[in-house]
Amino acid sequence: MERKEFLKMTAAICGLGLIPVGLVQSCNKQSNSGPTNVNFTLDLTASANSALNTVGGSLIANGVIVIRSSATVFQALSAACTHEGCSVGYNPTAVKVVCPCHGGVFNPANGAVISGPPPSALTTYTTSLSGNILTVKS
Ligand code: FES
Repeated sequence: MERKEFLKMTAAICGLGLIPVGLVQSCNKQSNSGPTNVNFTLDLTASANSALNTVGGSLIANGVIVIRSSATVFQALSAACTHEGCSVGYNPTAVKVVCPCHGGVFNPANGAVISGPPPSALTTYTTSLSGNILTVKS
């Protein structure tokens, strides 16, 4: 069997779920480095974004967790944990980004791993606020 055929067959088998997950970990391997070419806006007057009207509030949009860390500072990081891709959340009391799957903890200011199994930092994105429009970019 040629390499191309093997890859096609493997992709088909993984896609159909014919092999137990535990046997073929490579089917689940994915890049957890976060979305690329990020460029979106959030209207803070929209009810869907109301969490960001409170310091300590956060939401996930387009694979990015956006956190309001002060009246004027917003932080944006990849929402996918770099360990196995679980969706992270923000703990405003601890002022940390946390992963519910295996206890990974990240610094919201720069995405750095504080503790737990994640092998690398969360990707960070820039934010800028103009009026009520928050822009998030790579
Ligand atoms: S997936 Fe986040 S710590 Fe394992």
